[in-house]
Amino acid sequence: MSGGVGSRFWPFSKENKPKQFLDFFGTGRSLLQSTYDRFKKVVPAENIYIVTNDAYAEMTKKQLPELKDNQLLLEPMRRNTAPAIAFATYRIQAINPNANIIVAPSDHLIMKEDQFEVDMIKGLEFVSENPVLLTLGITPSRPETGYGYIQVTDKEKDGIHKVKAFTEKPNIDLATKFVESGEFVWNSGIFLWNVNTILDAFKIHLPEVSQRFSEGKELFNTPSEKEFIDTCFPFCPNVSIDYGVMEKAENVYVNISNFGWSDLGTWGALHEVSERDENNNANLNCKTLFIESSDNIVAMNEDKLVVLQGLEDYIVAESDNVLLICKKSEEQRIKHFVTDVKFRY
Ligand code: GDD
Ligand code: MG
Repeated sequence: MSGGVGSRFWPFSKENKPKQFLDFFGTGRSLLQSTYDRFKKVVPAENIYIVTNDAYAEMTKKQLPELKDNQLLLEPMRRNTAPAIAFATYRIQAINPNANIIVAPSDHLIMKEDQFEVDMIKGLEFVSENPVLLTLGITPSRPETGYGYIQVTDKEKDGIHKVKAFTEKPNIDLATKFVESGEFVWNSGIFLWNVNTILDAFKIHLPEVSQRFSEGKELFNTPSEKEFIDTCFPFCPNVSIDYGVMEKAENVYVNISNFGWSDLGTWGALHEVSERDENNNANLNCKTLFIESSDNIVAMNEDKLVVLQGLEDYIVAESDNVLLICKKSEEQRIKHFVTDVKFRY
């Protein structure tokens, strides 16, 4: 899935170049390219499909020149992850009606790749034998409100637990309770299932999406597919798979994973995985002199010298002609600033 805008990462992540296309750590590979590289070790490269927006087709092809045209699934507009996943599912079903599928975001950081591969293979085996929706859970380290929370039961087989409840993006009070209870893990946003299991789930929980796509079932993986998608998509509800399916489904399981995952969804998440000085300050792509300052993250998109004095818990980020200075603990508001800025300037 590579069609999101990553607005909480503004101003680095912008609508015309969202964060999956950025190389945050100067490795020479963007987050999308790194995701592709990682999955190439798990499945044959020709089985990797990228679902993204028409607007990002050229950027995707440029970053992944080895992709064949049929590996790029293009949406005419943004409808969040449920329709994006439905699109890919119907395409895959037309190719292999019994496929096992891994659904993954394109903008995460995974530090222990070997462990990641082990978990993927184990998960694929599990969903090929059981009609369940499998998620990968991460032990939470803070009451983050931007994630889904999974309540785990003791019912377990080979380290895979039955899920009691799935709550997408709780408010801060609920998130704090969840973390304190010790019963919850974060949803990593990576899902595994058999094609038939997810099609059944769409039928039950998002019947309008299921119905729309079923009408064009025969057109998937044919030259008429794009035309069908362009007419069908505007009628799809704007809903994520988390709200649309995972919160409602009863056959949800979780594998509690430990592969050095970070969502990189926000500046705070990036701060956590970046190198920091003794006062917990991080700086990216620049030199910063921190004076009486702690817990900050500074990021510039060119080699600039920054001096920070007396700041605590701030994001200082400059990209092109935009400079953001914002309290790190308030970073969930950045996406609203983006809307405000668009409206006013
Ligand atoms: N093709 C396509 N079309 N992709 C999309 C769209 C869309 O309309 N919207 C988002 N995506 C892609 C994003 O680019 C990203 O790779 C992935 O789908 C997930 O979307 P996000 O918008 O980043 O979701 P989130 O971070 O708010 O929440 C999800 O991930 C969390 C962990 O990172 C949820 O699954 C949470 O439950 C989870 O904790
Ligand atoms: Mg995300």
